[in-house]
Amino acid sequence: MSNVDSLDTIVSLAKARGFIFQSSEIYGGLSAVYDYGPLGVELKRNIRNAWWKEMTRRHENIVGVDAAIFMHPKVWEASGHVAGFNDPMIDDKQSKRRYRADMLIEQYIFKLEKDGKTDKAQQIQQQLDTAGTRKSLTEDLYDIIIENEIKSPDSGAFDWTQVRQFNLMFKTAFGATASEDDAVYLRPETAQGIFVNYKNVLDSTRVKVPFGIAQTGKAFRNEVVARQFVFRMREFEQMEMQYFVEPGTDEKAYEMWLEKRLDWHKSMGIRSKNLRFSPHPPDKLAHYARAAADVQYQFPIGWQEVEGIHNRSDFDLTQHQEYSGKKMEYFDQAQNKRYIPYVIETSIGLDRCTLMVLSDAYRKEEVDGDSRVVLKMHPKLAPIQVGVFPLVKKPELQELATRISSNLKEDYSVQFDEAGSIGKRYRRLDEAGTPFCVTIDFDGLEDDTVTVRHRDTMDQERISVGQLGRYIHDHMNSWQTPED
Ligand code: GAP
Repeated sequence: MSNVDSLDTIVSLAKARGFIFQSSEIYGGLSAVYDYGPLGVELKRNIRNAWWKEMTRRHENIVGVDAAIFMHPKVWEASGHVAGFNDPMIDDKQSKRRYRADMLIEQYIFKLEKDGKTDKAQQIQQQLDTAGTRKSLTEDLYDIIIENEIKSPDSGAFDWTQVRQFNLMFKTAFGATASEDDAVYLRPETAQGIFVNYKNVLDSTRVKVPFGIAQTGKAFRNEVVARQFVFRMREFEQMEMQYFVEPGTDEKAYEMWLEKRLDWHKSMGIRSKNLRFSPHPPDKLAHYARAAADVQYQFPIGWQEVEGIHNRSDFDLTQHQEYSGKKMEYFDQAQNKRYIPYVIETSIGLDRCTLMVLSDAYRKEEVDGDSRVVLKMHPKLAPIQVGVFPLVKKPELQELATRISSNLKEDYSVQFDEAGSIGKRYRRLDEAGTPFCVTIDFDGLEDDTVTVRHRDTMDQERISVGQLGRYIHDHMNSWQTPED
């Protein structure tokens, strides 16, 4: 179970400690858009770097690209997004608020489960799983809401419009004299930037099938339900990798990536008990997918997708071949044959991953009759990895502390802090997830030692100054996820 009972706990900590702020807050905020503060930007960057290292540097056959956000409008026709990237929405006529119909039902099921009404919850879940098989999807969702008398969460009213489909892409105009014909979209996924560069990568590098192309970058979706902090945003960042394989080898590659991706989440310090796979049933697959599964995390709002792994077959490359008129075939020299590769995609949201890391790390603990909030995240992800504290504000302690701090800064993110009692300084950095705090006292001036205090156990050890860098390095690399 998550140690956090409500998303609000993370929202408050994120704001108070400078991880994540509402966008344009002084003007009342912009719905489902968020800014990262001093701690958040470091955390997010560390996660992105860990993903990049895992997905590119650790593989001989995976390269990176950084495609533009604007793309030719035909891309989104070819990809199916213009026709099919829709969410079913329903409006509360009284409050005028809009909900995603399937999520309204999911929220209701979650509430029933929390209230112990499991039979009813299962019955509605079954209806939801088969929505679209009785009448159309929109009609079936509407029927579930009406039959079960699901009320609006904000107004409590039971006064709904019909369910309608709503395209999630943001449209804008290109150029100073733009007309409707010059409409372009903000990309709703980074994946298409990889597909349209597949030929360029093949022609400019020595990669051979099987190979992958990885990319991180912003994506935009005009989400209908956008009230879950950075879980569902209108502007967010994705980290995607498309792995191009010979048709017929796709199922094996899909299984391989499922396993690799779950292992990565665990290597990031996420507790195994909060991770699971959720395969998509065949009738619920996205328009491009032959097989798909989510890596789900047990968020404070319940089990939810954090990453999708999809077997996209040759759908995208075939579509781009047709719409662009350019050949997308691969010539396999060894076998002397041509084919359009199949693609296995791994797609994770960086913001959602950041929320997962914060939620999983969060603990509130009793310590000697007091309580502390501590983020027990993997040390390699911590925004501040080492705190350096002179015990008191005395020049000789400050001088040694400054020297230690400058040395450590070469390899770690370090915060020098001399304000307040040592206890207060520990608490501040516990809340920032700082794994090591180094205190410099007067004894240390005599014997060239310092005290290292560990975030998770609060144990303290006396270490010689010369050994400090190696000591932190070793402890960082041997860190184990605390399963409590
Ligand atoms: N290229 C495939 C694709 O985009 P997706 O399941 O729609 O697949 C992949 O999105 C991941 O992107 C999700 O697992 C999630 O982590 C993240 N994501 C999607 N929509 C998001 C949103 N509105 N806000 C934050 N993250 C989002």
